[in-house]
Amino acid sequence: MAIRAVVQGIGHALPSKVLTNADLERMVDTTDEWIMQRTGIRERRICGPGDSNSGLATAASQEALADAKIDPSELDLVVCGTVTGDMLFPSTSCLVQSAIGAKRAGAFDVGAACAGFIYSLSVAGSMIEAGHARTVLVIGSDTLTRFVDWTDRSTCVLFGDGAGAVVLRAEEGTDRGLIETVLLADGDGARHIDLQAGGSRYPAWDPATQDVRQAIYMAGSEVYRFAVTAMGDACCRVLQQAGMDAADIDLFVPHQANLRIIESAAKRLGLPDEKVFLNVERYGNTSGASIPIGLYEASKSGRLRRGMVVMTVGFGAGLVWGANLIRW
Ligand code: ACO
Repeated sequence: MAIRAVVQGIGHALPSKVLTNADLERMVDTTDEWIMQRTGIRERRICGPGDSNSGLATAASQEALADAKIDPSELDLVVCGTVTGDMLFPSTSCLVQSAIGAKRAGAFDVGAACAGFIYSLSVAGSMIEAGHARTVLVIGSDTLTRFVDWTDRSTCVLFGDGAGAVVLRAEEGTDRGLIETVLLADGDGARHIDLQAGGSRYPAWDPATQDVRQAIYMAGSEVYRFAVTAMGDACCRVLQQAGMDAADIDLFVPHQANLRIIESAAKRLGLPDEKVFLNVERYGNTSGASIPIGLYEASKSGRLRRGMVVMTVGFGAGLVWGANLIRW
């Protein structure tokens, strides 16, 4: 009998500090009207001095484990989609593994930017389906605001921080669980979104590093054009692979980068508004955290219920993009 990777529990964590568009109006030459019109973002949560990527990931994980009623000692693996680890190494997943006391679990990070949760869920699901793990914690966590240039109005209005996590468990004799995934990449587009300083090419200790970009760089309109096509393409591919079509989707939980990008993907798929989950207005682009936070809010509000088919899709630096189909 086929082994399925079923979502048993879900959690999330957000920093308490809120940064509104009105706050940004006082920091850079922008307006609430511009930000709302171009992105749909009204406010975002940002890390304060006591917050960290691993701290948010740990809090989300603890909530997911409690929700699943699973003891950390039962975990075989911790997988964290993140590009903003506390340090270059060790990995965020190792810091979480220690903090939650998952003594038996292996742990590694997946670097796929805003598609980090989609990639991580795919890897974890495949491990379960292949029989290599039975219980896996999958996290999406990012703190991009720690790398934002707060004088660059074209990027600083977009990002927020947060984390989300699910516990996946092997089950047989069920149609619930991960149905299908698609993972795609185009490294030719690497130059469109990057963070140069602090890596091994431009180490933080080297004075010459002061000459390279220290904060997130993004060619906004190139990324926008790519995202509009990529979101739709990934959804069509994952549906085709599963032998399904858009009418089979009960809820669409896309990466919350920009309202206009989400609307164009939903339009291409012919999805009505009531099937499209949105929270970009409250959190902005939380990178790898955006999809699990969306799944969390949808499930806790009753919009996403057991047995429903949910489609996720995301894109980000790499360039990378992908989609998951899950029977909840
Ligand atoms: N306030 C006011 N004006 C602004 C602001 C701002 N915050 N930011 C830019 N502008 C100005 C520009 O300077 C430009 O002015 P100009 O015409 O005088 O030169 C004008 O607004 C238009 O700028 P564009 O960049 O063309 O605006 P666009 O409509 O493309 O919207 C945006 C910009 C919102 C960034 C859009 O391109 C976008 O959402 N791109 C995708 C970003 C994304 O989703 N990234 C996700 C991946 S991130 C990751 O993986 C880490």
